[in-house]
Amino acid sequence: MPSQQRRTAKITAIGKYLPERILSNFELEKMVDTTDEWIRSRTGIIERHLVRDGEVTSHMATEAAREVLLKRQIDPEEIDCIIVATVTPDMFFPATACLVQNNLGATRAWGFDLSAACSGFLFALDTGARMVESGQYTKILVIGADTMSSILDYTDRATCVLFGDGAGAILLEPCEDGSEGVLDSILRCDGSGAEYLYMEGGGSLYPPSAETIAKGQHYLQQDGPAVFKYAAKWMADVSAEVAERNGLTNKDIQLFIPHQANKRIIDASAHRLGLTAEQVLSNIERYANTTAATIPLGMADAVDDGRLRPGDNLILAAFGAGFTWGGMYIRWSEVR
Ligand code: UT7
Repeated sequence: MPSQQRRTAKITAIGKYLPERILSNFELEKMVDTTDEWIRSRTGIIERHLVRDGEVTSHMATEAAREVLLKRQIDPEEIDCIIVATVTPDMFFPATACLVQNNLGATRAWGFDLSAACSGFLFALDTGARMVESGQYTKILVIGADTMSSILDYTDRATCVLFGDGAGAILLEPCEDGSEGVLDSILRCDGSGAEYLYMEGGGSLYPPSAETIAKGQHYLQQDGPAVFKYAAKWMADVSAEVAERNGLTNKDIQLFIPHQANKRIIDASAHRLGLTAEQVLSNIERYANTTAATIPLGMADAVDDGRLRPGDNLILAAFGAGFTWGGMYIRWSEVR
């Protein structure tokens, strides 16, 4: 529960990176048996950004982080720790966070990757916030970055239309009087949902082989309707729970930024909170589902559009593979 005494962690700068190349629904019509009408009406997506050849997760994460450093006007040596939420790291190891650390020249930082799929940024933000609260760290970069196009089967219409590539980054710093920043969070996981959304090939279960390639086990697999059922309920439930336990009614919430997987899930969660369209951020139409990047991209867009001001009450919510899910209450601070 929030307290006005303890040190909290507030967001002080935000950056984003979207690859230049845009893939529209109309282009997808030429690649698989789908239509712009189906994609728009079932998901809300119109287009998504995709990396060019050779562009990888660490590159997008680094560019988003560079924007943070530039806006905050700090040197990379001031960063204490870098947390990268991703399910599409450049490689299993070393961690993408180490590659970002080297790209930035963040010589004093340590870092690690966090794997929680679409809830990854929320889990990473909470982790970073607790590290700042501990008093041991004062500047933590939290990045959500995913190159979903690297694990999609562009002959499978059920999945390839849903995702895009991108990265968002924020800087966490202390708020000594505890009046702003991350004030509360509820985070959950339930591994019994693993069978509905996964990429099984390439790990210790199915090490890469000609057989795993032939079976397409290195591609993301999803039982869409099953995930939809859980996502719509649990993301709405957790959003309501975190708002209620902080005494926030629909009139107290200036903005709700939910994970962007499906406009119908976004609307269901917003409806549960009793919010109007103006109180809900939706950019799924332009970016599709960028997994760990959806929430920081949403925050970056909200700041750019003047939709978040210091003192605003912000609710974040996410749901993804694992299953993982969560909700967070942030009192917005001065953010560059
Ligand atoms: O971010 C991580 C968490 N992920 C999510 O939250 C995603 C949750 N799931 C969803 O968003 C939705 O389930 C989808 C968008 C993936 C699918 O929407 P749906 O309304 O659940 O459709 P469906 O899978 O039940 O498919 C309905 C029909 C099927 O055809 P029949 O069997 O009715 O003839 C599918 O084969 O739509 C067909 N279909 C398509 N048609 C055109 C599936 N994908 C496509 C497509 N284009 N791309």
